[in-house]
Amino acid sequence: MRLAPGDLFVTTRKKPTNAEEASAAALAKRHDLPLVAREGRSIAHHAREMGRPAALVVRVDAIHLVSGDARLGFHPNMAARRIAGRGIQGDHYIRVAGIRPGDHVLDCTCGMGADAISAANAVGETGRVVALEAAPILAEIVAAGMAGYGKGSAELRAAMRRVEIIATRAGDYLAALPPRSFDVVAFDPMFAWPQDGAHGLDLVRAFAVDDVPDAAVLTEACRVARRCVVMADGAPGPRLEALSIPIVSQDRRRWWGRIDV
Ligand SMILES: C[S@@+](CC[C@H](N)C(=O)[O-])C[C@H]1O[C@@H](n2cnc3c(N)ncnc32)[C@H](O)[C@@H]1O
Repeated sequence: MRLAPGDLFVTTRKKPTNAEEASAAALAKRHDLPLVAREGRSIAHHAREMGRPAALVVRVDAIHLVSGDARLGFHPNMAARRIAGRGIQGDHYIRVAGIRPGDHVLDCTCGMGADAISAANAVGETGRVVALEAAPILAEIVAAGMAGYGKGSAELRAAMRRVEIIATRAGDYLAALPPRSFDVVAFDPMFAWPQDGAHGLDLVRAFAVDDVPDAAVLTEACRVARRCVVMADGAPGPRLEALSIPIVSQDRRRWWGRIDV
């Protein structure tokens, strides 16, 4: 399911609080989307009335995407497993990027934010993680989810709250940064992702931007990085090869390249 702004409207749950109504109105205004008062009716009813198939349902702790039978929202599934299961030294991405406490990390492709949360856990309270997302609605959903998610370990929640999400294209953001502003600059574009369905990927696919980082963006990333630029690719790494990025790690589906600057 791919969604465009013309497919969406904004509403609340059936009995919203005043704060939820205000947040829904602000979200609708920010994205120029129609705001629909729920008035106790079903999402399906409003979808028919609006002629728009999908609703952004604003709650105090999250924004859900509801379309037909599907209800999708932010979930830190992968990050929770990565933080709890293997510790930061066992995390593939953290190891490849050499992320350590106190680092400043620029994640140029936030998506569901699993890498960003994992990095925020690895850099700790003295570090910083900025995560860029080119799809503005996805950025809203993930930022609201990271701010409101109340389950999981204290470590996971602290890491989520530290991620700074910015809705922008990576190329634009990088171009405005001074040289050597982040220790690590990371890319995990859509082409590096499996096509079949792990939990949470559907939400990203509904909105994701399919940019392929080019040589100009890579040059900017190398200018901004103090230590390294890392990029994921699907096996066998054709885009890493096209950009002459040395391959430093690979598993069956995913290859990682790194440029040390
Ligand atoms: C494969 S997902 C990233 C997954 C992420 N690493 C995680 O751990 O959840 C790629 C994301 O990057 C976003 N994206 C693509 N091109 C972008 C660009 N030029 N600037 C910022 N974000 C971009 C897509 O919209 C998508 O959400």
